[in-house]
Amino acid sequence: ERLNKQYRLEYHLMGEYGWINDPNGFIQYKGKYHLFYQHYPFDAVWGPMHWGHAISEDLIKWHYAPLALAPDEEYDKDGCFSGSAIEKDDKLYLVYTGNIHTGADGGEYKQVQNLAYSEDGVHFKKYDKNPVIGQEQIPERASKRDFRDPKVFKKGQYYYVVLGSNDGMGNGQVLLYRSLDLKQWEFVNILAKGDETMGYNWECPDLFELDGKGVLIVSAQHMKARGNDFNNPNSVIYFIGDLDIEKGVFQLGDCHAVDYGFDFYAPQTTLDKLGRRLIVAWMDMWEMPMPTQERGHNWAGAMTLPREIVRVGDRLYFKPIEEIKNYRKNHYHLRNIKINGEKYLDTISECYELEIEFDAGEAREFGVKVRKGKEEETILCYSRDESLFIFNRDKSGIGPKGERKTNIALKNNKLKLRIFVDRCSVEVFINDGEKTMTGRIYPGKESLNISVFSKGECSITRLDKWDIAVLP
Ligand code: FRU
Repeated sequence: ERLNKQYRLEYHLMGEYGWINDPNGFIQYKGKYHLFYQHYPFDAVWGPMHWGHAISEDLIKWHYAPLALAPDEEYDKDGCFSGSAIEKDDKLYLVYTGNIHTGADGGEYKQVQNLAYSEDGVHFKKYDKNPVIGQEQIPERASKRDFRDPKVFKKGQYYYVVLGSNDGMGNGQVLLYRSLDLKQWEFVNILAKGDETMGYNWECPDLFELDGKGVLIVSAQHMKARGNDFNNPNSVIYFIGDLDIEKGVFQLGDCHAVDYGFDFYAPQTTLDKLGRRLIVAWMDMWEMPMPTQERGHNWAGAMTLPREIVRVGDRLYFKPIEEIKNYRKNHYHLRNIKINGEKYLDTISECYELEIEFDAGEAREFGVKVRKGKEEETILCYSRDESLFIFNRDKSGIGPKGERKTNIALKNNKLKLRIFVDRCSVEVFINDGEKTMTGRIYPGKESLNISVFSKGECSITRLDKWDIAVLP
């Protein structure tokens, strides 16, 4: 059967074949960026997890490396689940979860933490005394089954890992362990715990300092919606707070969404040599349909564009990494035009970046439509009356539908958008990264138009568009 390549992404990392989910082991090692990922190479569905591996000089153009881990030992026999990477004595270490089914039907499981290492960053050996954190090291008041996704970092003389967990009573929590050598670990504390609105289990925790404050990010399963926020099956949330790593205490501040769109889960961060705190997420959502699993496509799952995290007071801003600018082609621009109604741009594209600055003028509603065709369009709209930015994918194509809304204020009556469109994705950075909205769309091949629209007159002070081309 000939494969349908229509939706394979141009400038987002996806698997070479088959299924991928969470980013794992995100690190800059010996000058190169490494990104591993949860991977089932034999089919476009989730299965016994392997670690896929890609290497890049600039976080945009990736080269596939051989599979880094396969589930072939007693302690990881039913999956090499998510984990992270760290450099020590010139070697690259991976700390990951081994998933082990305990019941006959695979419904029951236990999880342990394991170590693997590499001298060249390409070939990995599993440590011969795995697991390094076993079931017996799970504290009281913590689930005996959900115990996964170690994120490793170093602080002072210690290596630390945070681990996703729950308290056995429906609240997500994060466990903290420490070690001097990555091999022997001791439990420090339950670092943080959510309340009953914040998901029944926390996965993929990430803990770091940003300009003197602690930041905790977790992926919360079945987080309760709060108005416009957290309307997906699962949500990525962050807390900024005071961290006492020695005691293992993190005072949770307010809880915010990392991304306000549809498809953003299980992110992982790393600090690179330029001092940037980078984040990348799985650009999909559990429990939602993935059209590329069918119709001869035979792949599923992709990563978001890597983003840089900046702390602005008690909020995080997310900006696209600078490197993407090196792949801009065919500059198209407009300056100071007025719109009232809908206006098509005289340019079409499939994979591109769009920067627009609106001056709201008298308009009640204005925005842009991308991947627009005869019947299809993806609407990105600002509603002045409600101060809401809205991403609507009801008519985006064959994928899941719906809309997501988020509150955002105009600045001097202006709205700034940076939008990245790829073959089956849209990422919107609003007002210099104050909020982001990410979503997958699956439009037809012919839906390539772009239009701007307004109810009442508004002006576009600036519109720049570049095609983004990475693949040869
Ligand atoms: C999050 C997650 C992790 C787990 C992995 C399994 O998406 O459920 O908790 O390690 O996926 O593939």
